Amino acid sequence: MSHSQMILLILLSLLSSLSSSSSSSNPFLKPPPIPILPLPSASQLQWQLGHMALFLHFGPNTFTDSEWGTGRVDPYIFDPYNLDPSQWVRVAKESGFSRVILTAKHHDGFCLWPSKYTDYSVRSSPWRNGTGDVVAELAKAAMDAGIGLGLYLSPWDRHEACYGKTLDYNEFYMGQMTELLTRYGDIKEVWLDGAKGEEEKDMEYFFDTWFSLIHQLQPGAVIFSDAGPDTRWIGDEAGVGGSTCWSLFNRSAVKIGDTNAKYAMEGDPLGHEWVPAECDVSIRPGWFWHASEVPKSARTLLDIYYKSVGRNCLLLLNVPPNSSGLISAEDIQQYPGRK
Ligand SMILES: *[C@@H]1O[C@H](CO)[C@@H](O)[C@H](O)[C@H]1NC(C)=O
Ligand SMILES: *[C@@H]1O[C@H](CO)[C@@H](O)[C@H](O)[C@H]1NC(C)=O
Ligand SMILES: *[C@@H]1O[C@H](CO)[C@@H](O)[C@H](O)[C@H]1NC(C)=O
Repeated sequence: MSHSQMILLILLSLLSSLSSSSSSSNPFLKPPPIPILPLPSASQLQWQLGHMALFLHFGPNTFTDSEWGTGRVDPYIFDPYNLDPSQWVRVAKESGFSRVILTAKHHDGFCLWPSKYTDYSVRSSPWRNGTGDVVAELAKAAMDAGIGLGLYLSPWDRHEACYGKTLDYNEFYMGQMTELLTRYGDIKEVWLDGAKGEEEKDMEYFFDTWFSLIHQLQPGAVIFSDAGPDTRWIGDEAGVGGSTCWSLFNRSAVKIGDTNAKYAMEGDPLGHEWVPAECDVSIRPGWFWHASEVPKSARTLLDIYYKSVGRNCLLLLNVPPNSSGLISAEDIQQYPGRK
């Protein structure tokens, strides 16, 4: 064999080995591996990517300098003469919040929308001569600004006469929930707790039935409570997540209204459900506006941001509108704007 023949043979064998290796491998893209469950739902993912929500505690307590209304305050007190939810939403948007959550009804039972199931509402107040609807005004402002809307409907109701009678009150609550979830367009989050009157130990809240109703009427909404189903309470009101904070969790390990704070704060590396944590905290000492209270400093708020959003949680910062119906300028100045 001549030298040149040998080189030719080597070249040929190289070529054939190249072509055989390419014909034995699949020419198509290798599909991604099967995920390790559980996975977040689309609405949980959207919630998490939103990073921060603005909580709006507002109602008769705003006018009576209190935190927990008795449910016996005259609706005449409710008159936020300069109320402007588009200001609330503008503040939220300019400071990097993706959604706003309003106390449509707090423990005092007063409804910020004209519910057909009670007259303890804006309908009995002097504000807009009883024709106003705070939820509707906020819903419109939020939609115009492209900000998500969430609502809190307190299970505890210190005004309603049927409170304490399990069946009657659960029907009442679901009637009100249906109004809120059918009148105001897309609702992104429904927020609820397990607060209950001390004398009402025997009364039961039908949480599972409520959750089915909410998911049926607003399939894109996440439900917040101590135990999810979609997002869980972090277990404190300081806005601080655990330095390890899993989205994995077992809902069955927690009871609404009776949380294991360490479990809530850290989550569960072995958990078989996806229930990420939400950190609620107020910019002021109280949840409602009080003339005597001042907001936390921007430095403190930034620290809270790092210890909530920076720890895999959503930050729910409460900024209560004042009795004129506006977010106070002194609060706005403290926002850790992300822009
Ligand atoms: C409320 O009603 C009174 C008397 O009917 C009227 O003078 C006033 O302009 C009304 N105010 C609003 C805000 O509609
Ligand atoms: C959560 O569930 C997993 C099994 O799905 C289990 O291994 C783990 O111990 C549970 N955690 C708690 C706190 O019950
Ligand atoms: C509410 O806040 C607005 C904006 O800072 C301010 O103009 C108004 O006076 C405040 N109302 C009260 C009662 O403090």
